[in-house]
Amino acid sequence: MTTWMTTKVHAVRHWHAGLFSLQVAAEEFNFKAGQFARIALPTLDSEPVPRAYSMVNAPGDPYLEFVIAKVADGEVTPQLQRLEAGDELLLNSHPSGFFTLDHVPAGETLWMLATGTGIGPYLSILQQAEVWQRFRQVRLVHGVRTEADLCYRDLLYSIADQRQQQFSYQPVLSRDNQPTKGYLHGRIPALIGSGDLEHATSAVFNQQSQVMLCGNPAMIHDARTVLAEKGLQKHLRRKPGQITMEQYWAE
Ligand SMILES: NC(=O)c1ccc[n+]([C@@H]2O[C@H](COP(=O)([O-])OP(=O)(O)OC[C@H]3O[C@@H](n4cnc5c(N)ncnc54)[C@H](OP(=O)(O)O)[C@@H]3O)[C@@H](O)[C@H]2O)c1
Repeated sequence: MTTWMTTKVHAVRHWHAGLFSLQVAAEEFNFKAGQFARIALPTLDSEPVPRAYSMVNAPGDPYLEFVIAKVADGEVTPQLQRLEAGDELLLNSHPSGFFTLDHVPAGETLWMLATGTGIGPYLSILQQAEVWQRFRQVRLVHGVRTEADLCYRDLLYSIADQRQQQFSYQPVLSRDNQPTKGYLHGRIPALIGSGDLEHATSAVFNQQSQVMLCGNPAMIHDARTVLAEKGLQKHLRRKPGQITMEQYWAE
């Protein structure tokens, strides 16, 4: 049985016409960085239609924040995009999900590979102390279509600035081939296969790596295939490995 609580939108940030972030008020909503919440639009007489989004903010922050791609013919996201500060929203009272550092074994290098809004859970994890205590190197790779999709760049460059020895942020553009300093071009699995991603980030995929994958299900599939060629396997409790993943695409 889903228990909904009514909350209010605190702020909306439109990154571009198809990508936005919602901040909502949420008292006493305890979660672990990497988990997701279910939100829904208020309804008068029908069951709410829930959608799951990872929290972008760190646990303990006064507002929950979600980054959302508008699905043009979707049932929910076009309405979420029209919300304004002060509007009501329903929030499921319990966070969910296992895409947290509790489920990632120890390693030397933590790779966080994301496409699109799959960057959400990593933003929360990066704003907590645990990741810096557990991994010698952390690499965040964000694959998007064009530069406009690179949300939260300021936050990520500021973390990179503060943790130069430990962290780097690597944007990857798939539909913009204009060479730009600091960016890679193409798709993440191909860049793993060619060695270009390792070269650009001064880190390697090996048995001491842990790799988190989040975003487009096809990217997750293709990345797993190319990582398997390097001897990296899905992590299971009964059979420890190096890959932990989350696909949370909805309609
Ligand atoms: N249903 C959902 O929950 C959900 C969530 C996010 C987005 N979307 C939909 O997707 C639309 C576009 O959003 P988006 O640009 O964030 O998502 P996207 O289409 O997944 O694109 C993000 C990045 O993933 C790449 N990609 C796609 N397939 C790949 C693969 N097999 N291997 C590696 N990389 C791959 C894309 O490369 P290419 O440019 O080469 O394709 C692009 O760089 C939105 O308008 C929305 O309709 C839906």
